Amino acid sequence: MYYANAINMADLREIARSKLPRSVFAYIDGGAQDEHSLRHNESDLACIRFAPRVLVDVSERRQAISLLGQQFASPMILGPTGMAGLLWPAGDLCIARATAAQGVGFCQSTTSNASIEQIANEGRPDHWFQLYVQKDRGLTQSLIDRARDAGCPVMVLTVDLPVPGARERDARTGFTIPPRIGLDNIFDYASKLGWLWRLAHGPRFGFGNLDSPNAPPRALTTLAEQVGKSFDASVSWKDLDWFRAQWQGKLIIKGILRADDAVRAAAHGADAVIVSNHGGRQLDGAPSGIAALPAIAEALQGKIPVLMDGGIRRGSDVVKAMALGASACIVGRVGLYGLAAGGQAGVEKAITLLQKEIDLTLALLGVPDISRLDSSALFESHSI
Ligand code: GLV
Repeated sequence: MYYANAINMADLREIARSKLPRSVFAYIDGGAQDEHSLRHNESDLACIRFAPRVLVDVSERRQAISLLGQQFASPMILGPTGMAGLLWPAGDLCIARATAAQGVGFCQSTTSNASIEQIANEGRPDHWFQLYVQKDRGLTQSLIDRARDAGCPVMVLTVDLPVPGARERDARTGFTIPPRIGLDNIFDYASKLGWLWRLAHGPRFGFGNLDSPNAPPRALTTLAEQVGKSFDASVSWKDLDWFRAQWQGKLIIKGILRADDAVRAAAHGADAVIVSNHGGRQLDGAPSGIAALPAIAEALQGKIPVLMDGGIRRGSDVVKAMALGASACIVGRVGLYGLAAGGQAGVEKAITLLQKEIDLTLALLGVPDISRLDSSALFESHSI
C-alpha cells in the first residue's frame, strides 16, 4: 500500500513495517519486557467511552490551541524520538518541516541525528528541545546554550530514563546503533532495498547534538551501552533547581506518573509536565499516561498545563485525553510510522489523519470547540 492511501494509523504502521528491516521496525514499535505498559497505553484509551450531546450546532469546529505562548492548529506536539534518520534520510528535518506545514508542535530529541541548529535553520525556527542530562555537565551546559541560541522557546527535560528499560525485542534482533549488517540479518536488510538505497544516499549517520563536528564515525553500540556511557543516572530534584537557573525559557518535565511528583515539579519551577510512561519503553508495569492523567490534573488544579503521551493512534484519543484534563498530547510513534512510510509527506499524512479524526470526533460529540472539553464529554461509568 502507498502511504497516501492509508485510511488510518494502523495502515501507516503496516506500511512502515513493510518498508523497514525487522530490527529497525522492532526498535520503534517495541516496549520494555512483556510490553504490558505499551499495550495499556492503547487499551486504556480504548476503554474510555464518550457521552455525546445532540442538537448542538457543530457546523463550525475549532481544534486550535494556545500553549505556553505558542499557537498550534491542533493540540498535538510531535514528541522527541531519537534516531529518526534511521527511518528516512534527514528524518528529523522531515518531521520538523511536516509539523511546520500542518501547524502543530515539534520537540527534537537529544539523540536526534540532526543538530539543534539544523532543525532551527532548515526545519522550523520555534521547535522545542528535549534534554537527557549528560554525565558530562559541560556538554549538558552546551546543549542548553545551543538550544537558547537557536531560539528554542521550550526545553523538555526527560526524567524517566536514568537507565534504559529492557527492550527485549532489541535484544532478540541484535539492534545496534548504527545498524550492523551481518550474516544473521543480511537477508532482512537486503529485502528492504528501498530503505537501503535511501539510507546509503542520505547524510552520514551521527548524532548532531552529541558528536563533535569532525568526530570519526561511531563504533557500533547498543542503546544500553550508549545510555550507560553518557546519560547521568544520578539526576535528582536538586539538579532540577540548577537546571531551572540555567534555562530562562519555558521548562517542561517529561515522564511524570504520580500526582506528588507533578506538584513537586511545579514547585521547582516547571512550566508544564508531560504525563508519560515513555511509550511503554521504560518501567514495564507503570500505568498508562491516560490512567495517570486525571489525578495529576486534579492535583495541579490548573496551575500549570498538563500534557500527556502514550498510545495515541486516533484523533478520538486526543479528545479523550483533553476531556480528562490534558492541554495537549505528545505523539511519538505515529510520526515515525508516517516517516518510515513516506518521509515528510508520510508524516504530514499521519498528522492530517489525526486532525481529521479530531474534527470528526468533536462534531459527533457535540463539542464544536476543543477548548470547551471537560469530563462531561465522557460517559460516567468509564473506568480504566
Ligand atoms: C529513547 O528515548 C527510547 O525510548 O528509545
